[in-house]
Amino acid sequence: MFNIEEFDIKLDTEFIGRSFIYCDEVESTNSLLLSSKEFSQHGTVLLAEYQTKGRGRKGREWNSNPGQNLTFSILLKDDFKGVRINTINFGAAVAVAQSIENLYQLNVEMKWPNDILIDKRKIAGILLESSSKGNVINKIVVGIGINVNQPNFPGKFDIPPTSIRKEFHQLVSREKLLSEVLNNFEVILNLAFNAPDKILNDWRSRCKMIGEKIKIVDNDKIIFGIFEDIDQDGFLILKTAGKKEKIHFGDLNLR
Ligand code: BTN
Repeated sequence: MFNIEEFDIKLDTEFIGRSFIYCDEVESTNSLLLSSKEFSQHGTVLLAEYQTKGRGRKGREWNSNPGQNLTFSILLKDDFKGVRINTINFGAAVAVAQSIENLYQLNVEMKWPNDILIDKRKIAGILLESSSKGNVINKIVVGIGINVNQPNFPGKFDIPPTSIRKEFHQLVSREKLLSEVLNNFEVILNLAFNAPDKILNDWRSRCKMIGEKIKIVDNDKIIFGIFEDIDQDGFLILKTAGKKEKIHFGDLNLR
């Protein structure tokens, strides 16, 4: 059982998580916040103990044992004019990484576009979704799944999963971790408006694949090249025979 009081005492934000909804079971915290008219306050956080249809990138499932991990979404309803939305995605990954590093001194690595790894195993993922009115984005939902206390992960995975418990060799407080992530995310969100390059540099500093020979797989298409950098929108710059390609989607593997 998630202890809301323990979480609230550690929450040090102005608006992120100040409206907090805790549910036993939902289809997906992202879907609920995206469609809900009831939950509309900027910064609302919806945490569910279990998702029956938790979603990952590219229509994949996000499965997580009930009551052991963190599966939550953050609703942003700001004026996003001039903000490169992808920096919010990268910013969420940086907030999760900083929190795991600060609380458990674990070495966190980023994998483009939105995977968070420890020792090549996936510890967390981000799914950012938005809705628009006309051409204007009016709602962003940042969905975050963190494997916290799950002891094992039966099944087949593209990237093998791990949890903080497995890496830190102790059960950890989900309340403390969630408040730390939200505290860090609020600071980073301000950077998305004022200093987006700082977010991208923080992300780059944790991405060991930059400079490496990689393979991008997108459905039946495979492209080989060198991972040169990410650009200011967070797209991957791939160096292939004499030219540079901007990659928007796909799964990345070392060659
Ligand atoms: C990925 O790695 O592909 C992204 C995973 C994102 C999972 C989180 S869990 C909370 C939120 N609700 C969802 O349905 N998905 C995100």
